[in-house]
Parts: sequence; structure tokens; C-alpha cells
Amino acid sequence: MRQLLVVGNWKMNGSRASVAALLESLVSAPAMAGPEIAVCPTYVHLPQVLSLCAESAISVGAQDCSHMQSGAYTGEVAPAMLADLGCRWVILGHSERRQYHGESDALVAAKIAAAVEAGLQPIVCVGETREQREAGEAEHVVSAQLDGALRGQVNLDSLVVAYEPVWAIGTGLTATPRQAQDMHECIRGYLDGIEGVAAGATRLLYGGSVKADNAAELFAQPDIDGALVGGAALKAAEFIAIVGAAAA
Ligand code: PGA
Repeated sequence: MRQLLVVGNWKMNGSRASVAALLESLVSAPAMAGPEIAVCPTYVHLPQVLSLCAESAISVGAQDCSHMQSGAYTGEVAPAMLADLGCRWVILGHSERRQYHGESDALVAAKIAAAVEAGLQPIVCVGETREQREAGEAEHVVSAQLDGALRGQVNLDSLVVAYEPVWAIGTGLTATPRQAQDMHECIRGYLDGIEGVAAGATRLLYGGSVKADNAAELFAQPDIDGALVGGAALKAAEFIAIVGAAAA
């Protein structure tokens, strides 16, 4: 039985005041008991968020990390530093990193290896663009991303995969529960063929305009084990309602 996981990806948003206000609502919300919950703020807000979540059931992750553990990599943050701070998770291969920072599958693979080595649990994002879906290439694109990121890795017990169709991120367009389930089933089947991955135990999150009013239908699908939530994770009531849908 896979425990549902709801992760808030706060992206490049927030101030110390807004982070404090959001977490004050989240940590005291009764609906927060049930699924596993994590939030991923910017690097600069991590110490504050870790401290505010310390006595709560909310775990904390980063939105990216370096593929190296130390050295002359100006501007980078090592996975070992994140683990040392108390982070549990790291989002890797998000489409915004692939699109705006040119991240390749090979770099994502190196980051996964470094994150796992540091003891972090990677949340590896995959997903096709609208053009790729319309061309009938969605499954091929996603399986190639998984292959590039995961093949040859060791110790993937803690792996989480997030399927985030690029056309659904921040657009208000959500994959239908059927579209999401079909891709999740395909991803699970594909993971089964990768050595070192326990496909049946690996949690597969859906991401892309998840909101309070579509979460329950998505979570009802057999291969959807939670959500990676962007915009709606910045609004306490909305995020709490999504978590509530996972607890139901
Ligand atoms: P969204 O973002 O929920 O705002 O669509 C999801 C994500 O990019 O992780």
C-alpha cells in the first residue's frame, strides 16, 4: 500500500512574512493528518521553513540541487548541504529547469545520483509538451526521460516520480483523470523494466494545475499516489483542501 504524498512546489515565490503566514495555517490545520506532506520553498527560505515545520508532520525539500557535493561551482547548492540542513526531498528535472536552464537527462541523472548519495529522496519530474502530445509522442518522451534519468542508478528505493505534462503546468489545464492514469500506468510499467526500481512501491505523483476541485478525482486513480502542487500550494486553504482530498 503506497501512502499518498502531497508536495507543495513553491517555485520562486515568497518572503519571510508570507512564508511564516502560510506555514502558520498549514501546521495547525487538522486536515494535515493523513497523507504524507512536504513543502519545497526556495533555498533562502529553507532554514526558516525547516524551523517552522520542526514540530509538525510536514517535511521539507528543495527545488533543485547541484550534481556535485562541494567545490568550485559558483551559485550552486550541494545535496549534502541540503541533507545537513534537515531537508528530506529534492525536486529534480522539473520542466522549468529543463526549459529555462537547459537541463538534460544526463544532468538530471547526475543530480539524482548525487542526491541519493547525500541521503535525499529525489522527486524526479517528467512530462511532455503540448506539441509532443498532439504528435502522439507523449509516452515515448516520458519513457525516454525516465530512461535517461534512472537507468544505471543505484539505490532508488526512495525514488518518487512526478508526471507533469508541460501543457498543464500553471495553465489551468489539467490532464483528465483518465489521461493522467493512463500515463501513470505506463510509467509504472516502464519503471518495472529498470533495474533497481521497485515499480510497485514507487510513488507516482501527478502535477499540473492540481487544485482543490480536481484533486479527489485524480487521487481516486489507482496509479496516482499524490500530487506535486505549484500555484495552489501558495494558498493555505487551497493546499489544505488538496491534502484533505488525499486524506479522504
Ligand atoms: P502548477 O505547477 O500546479 O502551478 O501547475 C505544478 C508544478 O510545476 O510543479
